[in-house]
Amino acid sequence: MRKILVNIARMVLAITFILSGFVKAVDPLGTQYKISDYLEAMNMGSLLPDWAALGASVLLSAAEFCLGVFLLFAIQRRLTSRLILLMMAVMTPLTLWLALTNPISDCGCFGDAVVLTNWQTFLKNVVLLVCAVAVARWPKKMFRFVSESNQWIVINYTVLFILGIAMWSLYYLPTFDFRPYHIGTDLRGQWQRTMEGEDLPYADLFIERTDDGEDITEQVLADTSYVFLLVSPYLEQADDSRLDLINELYEYAHEHSYQFYCLTASTEKDINRWREMTGAEYPFCLTDGIVLKTVIRSNPGLVLLKDGTVIRKWSHNDLPEIGEENATKPLEELDEGKMPTTRVPQKILTLFLWFVLPLTLLVLADRTWMWSRWLRRKNRIYNNPKIKKEKEKMRKKIVAGNWKMNMNLQDGIALAKELNETLKADKPNCGVVICTPFIHLASIAQFLDQDIIGLGAENCADKEKGAFTGEVSAEMVKSTGAQYVILGHSERREYYKETPEILKEKVLLAQKNDLKVIFCIGESLEEREAGKQNEVVKAELEGSVFNLSEEDFRKIVIAYEPIWAIGTGKTATAEQAEEIHAYIRSIIAEKYGQAVADDTTILYGGSCKASNAPELFAKPDIDGGLIGGASLKAADFKGIIDAWKK
Ligand code: PGA
Repeated sequence: MRKILVNIARMVLAITFILSGFVKAVDPLGTQYKISDYLEAMNMGSLLPDWAALGASVLLSAAEFCLGVFLLFAIQRRLTSRLILLMMAVMTPLTLWLALTNPISDCGCFGDAVVLTNWQTFLKNVVLLVCAVAVARWPKKMFRFVSESNQWIVINYTVLFILGIAMWSLYYLPTFDFRPYHIGTDLRGQWQRTMEGEDLPYADLFIERTDDGEDITEQVLADTSYVFLLVSPYLEQADDSRLDLINELYEYAHEHSYQFYCLTASTEKDINRWREMTGAEYPFCLTDGIVLKTVIRSNPGLVLLKDGTVIRKWSHNDLPEIGEENATKPLEELDEGKMPTTRVPQKILTLFLWFVLPLTLLVLADRTWMWSRWLRRKNRIYNNPKIKKEKEKMRKKIVAGNWKMNMNLQDGIALAKELNETLKADKPNCGVVICTPFIHLASIAQFLDQDIIGLGAENCADKEKGAFTGEVSAEMVKSTGAQYVILGHSERREYYKETPEILKEKVLLAQKNDLKVIFCIGESLEEREAGKQNEVVKAELEGSVFNLSEEDFRKIVIAYEPIWAIGTGKTATAEQAEEIHAYIRSIIAEKYGQAVADDTTILYGGSCKASNAPELFAKPDIDGGLIGGASLKAADFKGIIDAWKK
């Protein structure tokens, strides 16, 4: 459940960051203006010169886009999710301040593509902040699309792609134009409707001749032929490298009787300086500076109207060259006079081909590669008895005693002492643990050599502490000097009604107190006869320990104990036991991966004795035993421990 929620949060964040970064990156100048607006609202307008604000605009939008893509692919999960959380932790209070004081009416978080009110933006950020907290809290729950070894391809490609888009949009014009003056806009119609009182973003559009102050907006828009508008919000900041081309275009317009105006918000002094410097003969008109910045993201930029509709836009880096051979032709006959054929769906397709498609192919190739590598490894391990043996050897082997409710204190101490001496004299070839009733623990811990014999309890409470008369907590067990605890034994499940939920709590508390858990599972006789043993053990694991993280699961020892074999003298045959042990290992592999499964110790329990232990322990998936009756006599128990020496 948590995994699903974290991945939903991750997708919401990733998509928002990608969209928001992208729409800003396609319009670096627009983002720069927004940054300056923000700084001015905070009275820090003079802090950043224009070039620095532009740099910040490109970096910010690229960072946002890249973080979104990295989150989508779960690249550097921990770092990415923390950076996103940091960003949201800064942006959320900032947008609350914007919503409360309203210094800027649109926050600009999606550029001009989606305009939100300040309160909508704040609410959006609260949702994103919650998602960011979830993702940063459980970053490892995000599943990967690309393996770690191939992540560098996604990282480099994404950074290059978004910087490329930003540079391209800066050099030419925004790849996608979301503003009210985009190509295809019927300016005449829109402006007229605005004048009739409709709430449209053209209220500030006016064109006023500088020589006689006449407002010619209507006249320009009513022109049924072509009209060139050279747009320069501020002539003193305009790029002057293409002056010849501008003058040539003016001459061409003049010859064909097309109107040509330079629209600016500059002062008369600056207009005169421009005239002197460039020899401009075209007329100048005053227009609102902000409107001009909105009309075209280039200073200067050229806009071509036909019949009151925007049909072309060029940045100063990309001005049209009519050329001598075409100079006599009217615009109708030239490409420059026609609306460009690349429309939005085509641009989206191009983008798709350049970004989404290569990355999708990469994901497919990567997954196929990983899958075939996994298959090859699996085959190598399972077809190669040597590797299989190696793995087996590496797993910890354990023989654990379960005294159950036997032995008074004196007898218990005597048994533990005897075992201690015996194993000190003849060192075991495996890990040895004795799990005793609570009352023995503290006394036995005093003398037991825990390098040779581990000490454990047979149970612990599912509560941390408090008014639970008769219970013993995991912390109390730990405080005696014990290191292990048996949980989920079938006798406790059956007689004391321990449910998977209770056991889940016990496991968590035991691990919290650094106790190693020997977790028992196993089916009843009826279940075995109905052929349901696999189903039962799977459900028992899923109910109590499969919710653990990989790190915590690695600390668990599993004990498979068929209930029909416990204390009955009926042992499962070595083949029966091996079959189900192999199955248990396979579901661990499914859940946590082959490496964890290969390292998990799985013990067999149920009428295990010195006589049958060697055959059981010889099986590749049986890593030792959990011994009840035969652990109550030192010699019997030693006999089983010695099975690992054969
Ligand atoms: P048993 O008990 O060896 O006496 O069958 C095993 C156990 O319950 O752990």
